[in-house]
Amino acid sequence: MEGDLKRAASIIRDRRETVVFTGAGISVESGIPPFRGPDGLWTKHDPSFIELGRFLEDPAGSWVLIRELFFDAIERAEPNRGHIAVAELERAGFARSVVTQNIDGLHQMAGSEKVIEFHGTTRTLHCLDCHTPYARENVDLSKTPPRCASCGGVLKPDFVFFSEQIPEDVSRESFAEAAAAGVVLIVGTTGEVMPAAYVPVVAKEAGAVVIEINTSASSYTKDVADIFLRGKAGDILPELVHEMRGAEKC
Ligand code: APR
Repeated sequence: MEGDLKRAASIIRDRRETVVFTGAGISVESGIPPFRGPDGLWTKHDPSFIELGRFLEDPAGSWVLIRELFFDAIERAEPNRGHIAVAELERAGFARSVVTQNIDGLHQMAGSEKVIEFHGTTRTLHCLDCHTPYARENVDLSKTPPRCASCGGVLKPDFVFFSEQIPEDVSRESFAEAAAAGVVLIVGTTGEVMPAAYVPVVAKEAGAVVIEINTSASSYTKDVADIFLRGKAGDILPELVHEMRGAEKC
């Protein structure tokens, strides 16, 4: 592992233009449960409550779980050492962007500037009827479903529901980043949800080196990752930054 970490650090340092592609695993150490695996949300709840058709049919029913599983958990979360290390990679000029599947906003809170939220965000909502936009902090979630102050319509969070299209501009920008990447650093994702999961594959096909950090093997590990660093994001990412800082000095 030590050798692989050093190799990963020198590849990121030498090739630069790293795109960091993250999933729920990077936020687990911030107290936000992942979707799959032993404690995954989808092992305890049927995800149909965030299927778009179901939400439109029964927003009150969906909103009970949306608030509990997404807003309550995220509200208590702070960026962890993994998010902070990713922001450091950008500040030091090694990372050009973060493409995240996460909707928790923790990369931005940690200081990352160029963050593309492939699945949207919980930080804003909009009215389904008059489309008035709302910042999360201006919405009272003590009563659900939250309603529009202007027209009384139901508010929908601005994250992508199942069977909802990924916004065209987000998709275009994400895959443009992938095509421009010299390195893709995949952190904490099973790589099972399309089209997001194609981002590292497009990068690899364009010639990028793929480095993966995960506590267990994913659908990238065998055939897509060139280097697999097994472990927690909050441990490995700071070590990677430390290794790069050290190497930079000499
Ligand atoms: N450090 C690194 N990796 C971790 C850690 C950790 N501390 N804890 C868990 N992991 C890994 C798991 O091994 C797993 O591979 O993070 C991954 C979490 O996988 P998922 O829960 O499937 O999350 P993700 O891949 O981001 O899901 C993609 O699915 O339901 C949709 O829209 C949702 O964006 C989400 C998408």
